[in-house]
Amino acid sequence: MTVRETLARELTAARDRTLRLVDFDDAELGRQYHPLMSPLVWDLAHIGQQEELWLLRGGNPDRPGMLSPDVERLYDAFVHPRARRADLPLLPPTDARAYCRTVRNQALDTLDALPDEDRGFNFGLVISHENQHDETMLQALNLRAGPPLLDRGTPLPAGRPGVAGTSVLVPGGEFVLGVDAVTEPHSLDNERPAHVVDIPAFRIGRVPVTNGEWQQFVDDGGYHQPRWWSQAGWAHRMQASLLAPQFWNPDGTRTRFGHVEAIAADEPVQHVTYFEAEAYAAWAGARLPTEMEWEKACVWDPAVGARRRYPWGSSAPTAQLANLGGDARRPAPVGAYPAGASAYGAEQLLGDVWEWTSSPLRPWPGFTPMIYERYSQPFFDGDYRVLRGGSWAVAPNILRPSFRNWDHPIRRQIFSGVRLAWDA
Ligand SMILES: [Fe+2]
Repeated sequence: MTVRETLARELTAARDRTLRLVDFDDAELGRQYHPLMSPLVWDLAHIGQQEELWLLRGGNPDRPGMLSPDVERLYDAFVHPRARRADLPLLPPTDARAYCRTVRNQALDTLDALPDEDRGFNFGLVISHENQHDETMLQALNLRAGPPLLDRGTPLPAGRPGVAGTSVLVPGGEFVLGVDAVTEPHSLDNERPAHVVDIPAFRIGRVPVTNGEWQQFVDDGGYHQPRWWSQAGWAHRMQASLLAPQFWNPDGTRTRFGHVEAIAADEPVQHVTYFEAEAYAAWAGARLPTEMEWEKACVWDPAVGARRRYPWGSSAPTAQLANLGGDARRPAPVGAYPAGASAYGAEQLLGDVWEWTSSPLRPWPGFTPMIYERYSQPFFDGDYRVLRGGSWAVAPNILRPSFRNWDHPIRRQIFSGVRLAWDA
């Protein structure tokens, strides 16, 4: 398949997914489910607006577009906080759909004219952006009160007993952190450049922390003992009255996309803040991995002295290797993907849950902003922690082991989980 064909296919896959997530009536699309989330119709038109900007206007907002400047400004994420987007005079769903369609048709014409040697960076950026918003829309739908709009999800492979709570050793030494444009043409600015770093030996969880393990932390009074929490973490725990992961109900069930169900003990815990992850790790006699440790455990092949493209090797993710794509609506039980293990034996690094690391978001040495200058740079000095590995909701074609996500340490509507680490 040519680069153009691959990009066309990925654009279409992202759009099919988006349209499935907005396949509701107009009133539903205009609702704000939670102050942290936009109404779905905002995401829809914003997806089109960004696609128009990056693919049809060369990233230059001063170049006239299809929307009037006043309307276009409604979709600037830096201008309007999510909590106020439902009150804006947004495009009605019919107009938003028509706008997205028009933009897409012209974008596909632009793609047809892409020179053979061009790797289509801006197309990759737009594909990634749309898929990232699809994940955000899933977060919004998960926060929606009332009877479910989405089904319970597609079946997942069974887990393996005996893997929860175990760890693997990653010997100390140099490895290559980050990637470059040659090996990963669609990698974003914050993943570059590739550079050698030397880190001491450590142990890392073979799999993410499970609900069953988290229940022991709850039962042991972990949420009531400040000694496990950082000062900022305890302050937040008190202020937000945290007692368990988000969506766990007092009767021992949990709510997911409006469905009430039993909490599966062997499923990775989800919807915890960085502060909770940090407290759990302290209680468990462990710590969170740094993102350097996480990436080494994920991609370094010590036998060859080189990075793998994915934890398991060079082949693209499949349903036998990782839980990605969003249709499962949940993480898979631990041990479900032995074939997806990294060279060091760590499993489920890609997919299932975003894993909190202890690292604040900082540029790699030699960082250069990409055409979309506000993608990473404004966030480098903020109150953010990096999450790695993607969740079940991430599209397989946009995920790389070098991909860096970040959020405030108090957020947990994201599909976030925990993997432990230890000094070796
Ligand atoms: Fe966006």
